[in-house]
Amino acid sequence: MEEMNLLDRFEAYVADNKKVEPKDWMPDAYRKTLIRQISQHAHSEVVGMLPEGNWISRAPSLKRKAILLAKVQDEAGHGLYLYSAAETLGIDRDTLIEELLSGKAKYSSIFNYPTLNWADIGAIGWLVDGAAIMNQVPLCKCSYGPYARAMVRVCKEESFHQRQGYQILLTITQGTAEQKAMAQDALNRWWWPSLMMFGPSDADSPHSATSMRWKIKHFSNDELRQRFVDMTIPQAEILGLTVPDKDLKWNEERGHYDFGAIDWEEFYNVIKGNGPCNKERLAARRKAHENGAWVREAAVAHANKRAAKTKAA
Ligand SMILES: [Fe+2]
Ligand SMILES: [Fe+2]
Repeated sequence: MEEMNLLDRFEAYVADNKKVEPKDWMPDAYRKTLIRQISQHAHSEVVGMLPEGNWISRAPSLKRKAILLAKVQDEAGHGLYLYSAAETLGIDRDTLIEELLSGKAKYSSIFNYPTLNWADIGAIGWLVDGAAIMNQVPLCKCSYGPYARAMVRVCKEESFHQRQGYQILLTITQGTAEQKAMAQDALNRWWWPSLMMFGPSDADSPHSATSMRWKIKHFSNDELRQRFVDMTIPQAEILGLTVPDKDLKWNEERGHYDFGAIDWEEFYNVIKGNGPCNKERLAARRKAHENGAWVREAAVAHANKRAAKTKAA
C-alpha cells in the first residue's frame, strides 16, 4: 500500500467525520482558521455582554433583572469555554486578549449597535441569540473536537437566551400602543444587523469552501441566513410586528422567503471600526481589563504560594 502523506491522511480522516484533537497533526491553515474563528467567537461572547449589561440595573422588575443577569453571565461563560478551546491550538490567552484590546482581532459587528430601550433586550435575545443558535448548532459537529464539545453546552444556553428575548417581546407587544411601538422600533433597528451576522454572501466569502471541506462549517452563510429568515418571519407574525423589508415575501416555488438586499457597505463599515459603538465597546473592555489586573496578580501570587507549599511538603 502506498503511504499517504500527512495532508491526504488528514483530508480523508476529516471527510470520514472523525474528530481532530489538539495533539493530532493538522495543516497550518486549519489551525490558523480555527484560532481565528474560535477567538473571534470568544471575543463576541465577551463584548456581547456590554450592550445588555447596561440594562441589568434598568430591567423593569426583579425577575427580569435576575433573568438578564443569568443570561449575561452565560455569555461570560461562553467566552471562557471558547478561549480555552482556542488555547488547545497553541495560542495563549494573553495574546488573544491583547489582540482584542488593541483592535487587531474582530468580533461580531452586531455588538457595535446601541441598546436604546428595554425592547432592544427582547430583540437581542430573539434575533441575535436566535441567529447565534442557527450558526452554532452545526458547529456542534465541527471537526475540531474541543470546539464541537464546547458548542453543545453553549447551544443549550443560547436556546434559553432566545426564549427569554422572545418572551420579553411577547409581553411588550401585548401592552399599550406605546409599548408596541417600542417593540417595532427595536425590530426595525436589529433586523438587518442580525441578517449580517451570518457574514458575507457565499460569493464574497473566499475561505468558505475550504472550511466546508474541512468540516469546520457545514452550511454556507447564505443557507444559514435563509433558514434564519424562514424561522423568524412566522415568529414576527405572532408578535404582530412587521419586518422592515418591503421585498420580503413567501416564494412558493422555492419554499422559502425572498428578502431584500443587505447593505454590505454598512457591514464593512462597522467591521472597520466605524459603527455607532465600536470605540465605546473597546474602551469598556480595556477599562475592565485594567480594573481586573489585581485579580490576575492575586491569582498568580496564590498559585505560587500553593506551589511552594506543595514543594515544601
Ligand atoms: Fe453566547
Ligand atoms: Fe446568548
